[in-house]
Amino acid sequence: MTPPVLPILVPDAQGLSKAAAILRRGGLVAFPTETVYGLGADARNDRAVAGIFAAKGRPSFNPLIVHVTDLAMAQTIADFDDRALLLAQAFWPGPLTLVLPLHPDAGISPLVTAGLPSVALRVPAHPVAQSLLGAFGGPLAAPSANPSGRISPTTAAHVVAGLTGRIDAVIDGGPCAVGVESTIVGLGPEATLLRAGGIPTDMIEALLGKPLTRNTDPASPMAPGQLESHYAPQGTLRLNAKAAMADEVLLGFGPVADGLNLSPTGDLTEAAANLFRHLHTLDAMGAARIAVAPVPEYGLGQAINDRLRRAAAPRPSAPPD
Ligand code: TXA
Ligand code: MG
Repeated sequence: MTPPVLPILVPDAQGLSKAAAILRRGGLVAFPTETVYGLGADARNDRAVAGIFAAKGRPSFNPLIVHVTDLAMAQTIADFDDRALLLAQAFWPGPLTLVLPLHPDAGISPLVTAGLPSVALRVPAHPVAQSLLGAFGGPLAAPSANPSGRISPTTAAHVVAGLTGRIDAVIDGGPCAVGVESTIVGLGPEATLLRAGGIPTDMIEALLGKPLTRNTDPASPMAPGQLESHYAPQGTLRLNAKAAMADEVLLGFGPVADGLNLSPTGDLTEAAANLFRHLHTLDAMGAARIAVAPVPEYGLGQAINDRLRRAAAPRPSAPPD
């Protein structure tokens, strides 16, 4: 059997239109940014985004950064207050990511935001990333293009070494200039440093005129993926349920009786794509007790189960209003 080969695209008009076509049909394309190579997928396509987690072998669903062409596209996806506008105008395009209130009707897959009401946005400066976004014409979810737990890639060769056989193509734009991921700033009531990165923090603080809040609580580290604020439904979850009891709503997997189903055919990529959407639907239904069918603990099943276990874990009592 011949080993798999990862197609390497040249960033000319033909290569870029090929890449855009792959993305349009829900495929995965790695592309250079000024920070690191990103693994891009259509941020509006649940299955494509689930494919990112599958390709990276991520054991949990961390929210992903959405890459856009410019501030105008970003404003169709999230709310920009004065601070956000100031930072975007100063540092975009460039290695700054802003976490902002998501427009619920922006069409962003809930898998991108891990079901959160906020979204991380960035306008990359790399000319190839810009051209790709232009050719694709929509938002691209893109974490670093490496297998989970491995070092971030700063050349196309790194991507080939890590992800051959798992993604559809890589665009070779040469080595990345910045080499570390973007700085992430959350703009809630306070401006908070969520990840140090390509833009020095003091430049951001100088512009805002005050220090960024830093998370100093060791129990909730600010490192990527350690965020505690993942979405959990209002109802309680009972996992590995063979069937629903009289007062429960069933969240199925595989061929079970009708109702909400993560994947009637038992497809883990489809299940991942549906997970957050279905949890939201259960909330909208007012489901107080949810029985969840067993999901196998391999491939994307690990990420799904990680998410379900967190959602099922006993919760701290609600904070006072
Ligand atoms: O430089 C970069 O930012 C690279 C290149 C490819 O652009 N991208 C990157 O993306 O590092 P990603 O998806 O791996 O970054 C995800 C991190 C999460 O782990 C989390 O820290 C933060 O971004 N994040 C994303 N959405 C968030 C949200 N709604 N709230 C808080 N943090 C969020
Ligand atoms: Mg990464």
